[in-house]
Amino acid sequence: QPHIAYRNGALHVEGVALDTLARQHGTPLFVYSKQWMLDALGAYQRGFEGRDALVCYAIKANSSLGVLRVFAAAGCGFDIVSGGELARVLAAGADPAKVIFSGVGKTRQEMRQALAAGIGCFNVESEAEIDVLNSVALESGQRAAISVRINPNVDPKTHPYISTGLKGNKFGIAHDRALAIYRHAASLEGLRVVGIDCHIGSQITDAAPYLEALERVLDLVEAIEKAGIALHHLDFGGGLGIDYNGDTPPAADALWQQLLGRLDARGFGQRRLIVEPGRSLVGNAGVCVTEVLYTKPGEARNFCIVDAAMNDLPRPAMYQAFHRIVPLAPRQGEAVTYDVVGPVCESGDWLGRDRALDVQAGDLLAILSAGAYSMAMASNYNTRGRAAELLVSGDRATLIRRRESIEDQLRTEQFDRG
Ligand code: LLP
Repeated sequence: QPHIAYRNGALHVEGVALDTLARQHGTPLFVYSKQWMLDALGAYQRGFEGRDALVCYAIKANSSLGVLRVFAAAGCGFDIVSGGELARVLAAGADPAKVIFSGVGKTRQEMRQALAAGIGCFNVESEAEIDVLNSVALESGQRAAISVRINPNVDPKTHPYISTGLKGNKFGIAHDRALAIYRHAASLEGLRVVGIDCHIGSQITDAAPYLEALERVLDLVEAIEKAGIALHHLDFGGGLGIDYNGDTPPAADALWQQLLGRLDARGFGQRRLIVEPGRSLVGNAGVCVTEVLYTKPGEARNFCIVDAAMNDLPRPAMYQAFHRIVPLAPRQGEAVTYDVVGPVCESGDWLGRDRALDVQAGDLLAILSAGAYSMAMASNYNTRGRAAELLVSGDRATLIRRRESIEDQLRTEQFDRG
């Protein structure tokens, strides 16, 4: 990672040494490289050069306002999945016309909120949702632009919790129902059919499932347009993986060169294209800095107990996900094999297993690839406040979220009146 590297024996994010930041702001602490995010976005933009394309950052990966502002300023659109996420992108200065709204369970209230904001498109996921959106739009005297999420039934070969394009899951509309559903949607006064979308899963490291999904979606586009329903845009979702542990996903520009080759060959290359990347825009831009509290040698295993935990970074506990863990200032001594664990009272509270580390209490470690689905999935479990976040640009670090205080946590609660 060019923007996250050792210089003079100290781990830096861009021009800033992480130990300086940890001393100033405490730990656990998330630190992001702005340039890494812009470079990742740049790879998509290069891939789409000369095309009518819109990158809609899927903010569920990291929805901190300071991160959203980076993408809004770079002209990005956004993929949202709740009224809360809509409020976030608007607060960050997003152009509402570049916002698309995904998700299987939009409420009427969220639909009203999105119509009032003037978002670009609703990605609808069921027949029932189509009818509800139609009635909400009619009530508010508007026409809602929609795209139908197709389930292309391809196997992305990723973790079962994060594959979404297979038959047996809750997302999207089955391929063989699609044409009937498009006909129905096109007949409704409150809706305007503008596109088609799919999303097959996350942390995909191979181009093959994308190519397969693309062919199936294009087959449908042909059938739908033959029925007289024009599709203005094609949205291929997100899902491109990152390197956690020697993973080798295609680069975004290389992937899109390949996909555009197929689109051109089938005559769809000039169509408006939308993608919804999340992880690949932010995942490797961030690290979580944590302090070693205790080392605890044991008969079966040795534990390295740190001050970050599953509430800060739930991916290992939830998906057995691997994140590299490295010292901010490597020692020269002998490494011991540790399980790196947090203070939360659960055996599942681990961050890394069987890691060779030479550490002592008080040392600082960086958990890598922590820019995506980390802070955004953080909780207050064990009444732990959420960590602080810093955005680094060159040799400047900006606090984009202060550490959550106990007052913040208690504010929404009250005693009963008995
Ligand atoms: N579009 C839709 C409709 C999605 O459901 C998702 C992610 C994305 C785009 C962005 O996917 P990405 O480019 O980030 O792969 N918490 C899990 C990942 C859940 C992904 C959910 N959907 C994890 O930590 O691995």
